[in-house]
Amino acid sequence: MRYPFIAGNWKMHKTIKEAALFAEKFRKLYDSSVTDVRVAICAPFTQLAELKKAFEGTGILVGAQNVHFEDKGAFTGEISADMLAETGVDCCIVGHSERREYFGETNETVNLKLHKLFEKNIMPIMCVGEGLEQREAGEEHQIVRTQLVEGLVNIAPEYASRLVIAYEPIWAIGTGKTASPQQAQDMCGYIRQVIEEIYDETVADEVVIQYGGSVKPSNAAEIMNMEDIDGALVGGASLDPDDFIEIVNF
Ligand code: PGA
Repeated sequence: MRYPFIAGNWKMHKTIKEAALFAEKFRKLYDSSVTDVRVAICAPFTQLAELKKAFEGTGILVGAQNVHFEDKGAFTGEISADMLAETGVDCCIVGHSERREYFGETNETVNLKLHKLFEKNIMPIMCVGEGLEQREAGEEHQIVRTQLVEGLVNIAPEYASRLVIAYEPIWAIGTGKTASPQQAQDMCGYIRQVIEEIYDETVADEVVIQYGGSVKPSNAAEIMNMEDIDGALVGGASLDPDDFIEIVNF
């Protein structure tokens, strides 16, 4: 079932103390009887347990930003899905462009991580998106198609229908340069079409597609109103509870 879903991506921001302050304020602002929008905060590992506790009873989800695809082993600096599950996390970002660019994430590792997260019952938010050069060369559809096809290898339809896909054009992340609502809609519609080709119409209708890249209070409504956009993945503007609640209540 498709539903509106707005997730904050805190990246490498906030201490545990700062996260607790955010949560204390945000839980007062968020009223699930006013909005049907599902909300998540994807935070650094050290804050996850604290946030789960702070958001108890509010319906606000907590997510991680990365996971390793093995259960355990000699992988210094990594974290397993079981370790995440133990903190109670609901979801986990996979394949964010910053991880692809700086930490060697590939479509293949994205695929392995998706398998692991589904196995452990943690909802993945799978990021796809093209860079500026690729868009200027007219390659954006091909890039996104490949990310989807290779990222979703052997992911069963019953899992795929629970997937969240975040379309984040790299040129719009943290730059203040948002894709126009029409550009965002065009690609999100295309993503739904590729999902239909890989699976079928039912899965394509159910998959939740977010747009991400400089979403802020002033542009959230027009983005959220586009037909194939079900939600947003919000970086910078999710760090401030007042900004984030304005986006959630668009
Ligand atoms: P931004 O980041 O909202 O700061 O552009 C979005 C993201 O990277 O998820």
